[in-house]
Amino acid sequence: MAEIIALANQKGGVGKTTTAINLAAGLACLGQDTLLVDLDPQANATSGLGFDKNEEAPGAYENLVEKLPAEKTIKGTPVELLDLMRSSPDLVSAELQLAGEFSRENRLKDCLSGVRNAYSFIIIDCPPSLGLLTLNALAAADKVLVPIQGEYYALEGLATFLETIRVCQERLNENLAIEGAVLTMYDPRYTLAQQVRGELEKFFGDSLYKTAIPRSVRLAEAPSFGKTIYQYDAKSKGSESYLALAGELLARRGWKGMRLN
Ligand SMILES: Nc1ncnc2c1ncn2[C@@H]1O[C@H](COP(=O)(O)OP(=O)(O)OP(=O)(O)O)[C@@H](O)[C@H]1O
Ligand SMILES: [Mg+2]
Repeated sequence: MAEIIALANQKGGVGKTTTAINLAAGLACLGQDTLLVDLDPQANATSGLGFDKNEEAPGAYENLVEKLPAEKTIKGTPVELLDLMRSSPDLVSAELQLAGEFSRENRLKDCLSGVRNAYSFIIIDCPPSLGLLTLNALAAADKVLVPIQGEYYALEGLATFLETIRVCQERLNENLAIEGAVLTMYDPRYTLAQQVRGELEKFFGDSLYKTAIPRSVRLAEAPSFGKTIYQYDAKSKGSESYLALAGELLARRGWKGMRLN
């Protein structure tokens, strides 16, 4: 049964979507059946995988608001073993539509329960807020992975965010655990970035991923071509580092690596 991992941080622009796409695709490259759920009305994960976010096609909105079964909206992607539950700009109104509905935080969880057996991993890309969509992700997830940008304000807001996770554990999902944090847009040439890394090591201990994602123009360019970093530039530092991140995630679960015959 799939492990469900939410990529969340209420701060905007920290690398949630870039990590969701390339971690999910990295897991798929390493042989894991993976579903990427785009739960952000910006639909950047949807367009980043080459789909038109404005296309009239059912997606997470229909799954959450109209309770359409997951398999009705999930599609294959150009990446082998990677499927997508797409988003669209109208997802922004889901919050209003669901106001007053019973158990509205559990819509995603209920919907994913129908497809959990088909995957090893389900990765959820969350919007930059702590609204109902992120709560749906946290209610459905087993783990939350927090991307953190290696810059000055990196730790600001982190305490509030972790407090939200604690409240979620208490009220919504007692199984929710913190997978850890991953440093994004990391540039070790800057003392400040090294300091942030040091702070995160203190704060997260072993749950901070050893793999830090470097700042890389190729990673920023890939989504405008609707491609994962592996399709866009497989030899780039960004590609190596996201594959290493996927490998580290699997190693934490006892994976011994791919064997070449
Ligand atoms: N490692 C990186 N190197 C260079 N640019 C990056 C890197 N990671 C992300 N970016 C760029 O930084 C911007 C923000 O990244 P991304 O969209 O992944 O963040 P986000 O947390 O999902 O943002 P939002 O909160 O708006 O959803 C994007 O333009 C992306 O292309
Ligand atoms: Mg995003």
